Amino acid sequence: MIRKVPVEELQPGMHVVKLSSEIWEHLPFLYSKPGVLQSRKQIERISADGYLHAFIQVDGPDESGATLDTLLTGPTQDAPPKPRVPFEQAMQVAEVVYSKAMHHAKRIIHDVKLGRKVDFEASVETVDAIVDSAIHNPDTLLCLSKLSDYDEYTYAHCINVAAISVVFGEYLGLPRDELVRLGLAGMMHDLGKTAVPARIINKRARLTESEFEEIKRHPEYGCDILARQQEVADDILEAVRDHHEKYNGSGYPERRTKKTIAPFARIISLADVYDALTSDRSYKDAILPNKALAIMYGMREQDFDPIEVQRFIKCLGIFPSGSLVRLNTGFYGVVYESNPALPLMPKIKIILDEDLHPIPAELVDLAAAQALGNRDLEILECADPAAYRLSLKPYLTRKG
Ligand SMILES: [Fe+2]
Repeated sequence: MIRKVPVEELQPGMHVVKLSSEIWEHLPFLYSKPGVLQSRKQIERISADGYLHAFIQVDGPDESGATLDTLLTGPTQDAPPKPRVPFEQAMQVAEVVYSKAMHHAKRIIHDVKLGRKVDFEASVETVDAIVDSAIHNPDTLLCLSKLSDYDEYTYAHCINVAAISVVFGEYLGLPRDELVRLGLAGMMHDLGKTAVPARIINKRARLTESEFEEIKRHPEYGCDILARQQEVADDILEAVRDHHEKYNGSGYPERRTKKTIAPFARIISLADVYDALTSDRSYKDAILPNKALAIMYGMREQDFDPIEVQRFIKCLGIFPSGSLVRLNTGFYGVVYESNPALPLMPKIKIILDEDLHPIPAELVDLAAAQALGNRDLEILECADPAAYRLSLKPYLTRKG
């Protein structure tokens, strides 16, 4: 599996993995030259160059296999499954909700850039609809968050973070009014970036120390913008302020630790990193959802509370909704409903034969099939739709 380690813990012989040094703008000090570290001298040089972390491959089962399985079937307690609206029916509504939310995100970012007030009433209306969708069928939002185009990333990311946070909050059993405030905080978590010069936000090369210091101020800028404009609930402001704080105190702006980080911020931080990892950008390809979760598990005790990241993984599943999977029959399917109790057996829509030719979609509930004694069908692995130049959109939305 892959684990994020501080530079001072690097040892000769460790295998550095390249994810992308630009994957998170708030991690510009990530050493990501792939290969085995040869000597102490090399590690000293990495440290002297100002790098703070590296992702390394450590011994153990593959990140998409037994480790997560063991983790997910661990001791955390779950509420019994809730009644949901059937996926296809819920998706028809969720698509409209998502598309309206995208328009709203564009509007509020534009307004803030022009120094105008954020329309809070319309924001509450937008998030209210997201909360309804999460309650009716959370998988619809998880699928839609994986279908956005990279050229719309800035806006899609606001909505995806709001949606994923609300889905996780709903899984944790938060009451509706809290879900709405959590969604608002998720949607507005990065508004402060509008106050950071665009040349720094858009810079693709490594940031200088002073540029990074400026980026690190965006949570406070966001908090100030909202607080200055109108009466905003404290837990929303705290979430915006703390969304880059980390469990071990290495985050910013205040280097808060563990439970001193605002609870909404801890949820938003999980959603933020998951969406950043699994999104296509102009300079990097998306990481598969199950791999992204494995990487996040490797960030436990540093970026995330180990129990909280575990629960997040359990909420999304080993094969998160919207994943393309290859079956033992050679056919391919898309996951449209995860199964927290039996994470290896989600509901899937089989859409392609072994030669990647489309076939009439067949809906299969792997858990139900197994309960009926049909053990012939199982998921072998997640597949990358981009590798087959495949868009999953038509298979997951009403156009499918
Ligand atoms: Fe941020």
